[in-house]
Amino acid sequence: MSKTLLLITLFASFTYAQVSKPIEMPYIDYPVTKGDHDEVAQQYCLICHSWGYILNQGKKSRPYWKGTVQKMVNEFKAPISKEDQQTITNYLVKHYGFEVPASGH
Ligand code: HEC
Repeated sequence: MSKTLLLITLFASFTYAQVSKPIEMPYIDYPVTKGDHDEVAQQYCLICHSWGYILNQGKKSRPYWKGTVQKMVNEFKAPISKEDQQTITNYLVKHYGFEVPASGH
């Protein structure tokens, strides 16, 4: 067997081994809280990644959610209108975050 043929055979079996092995992703159930236009958040925020990926961050402040939504738009070109950005931010703060007290301690 020539060296080239050996390499091809090795490569082919390697590729086959990869394909034949099922890839299992851990399934984490993150329910979408209903209300306050959750459909707007779902419409845009699930285009590029999962809901769990978003909520993995834990409860976050309004500035965090506002900044994150803006980051998705500015850096990753999420096509979300200013109005919808506001709706989504309000939704996220209400269900997955908290307001920052005006005068903090
Ligand atoms: C155009 C694609 C796209 C859309 C639409 C999108 N994201 Fe993202 N998002 C990304 C990418 C890419 C990353 C990974 C960024 C990184 O690794 O730094 C990310 C990461 C995140 C993270 C992890 C923290 C961070 O800052 O990296 C959060 C939270 C998040 N997105 C929330 C949202 C929310 C909320 C929406 C809906 C308003 C949304 N995303 C819509 C592309 C998108």
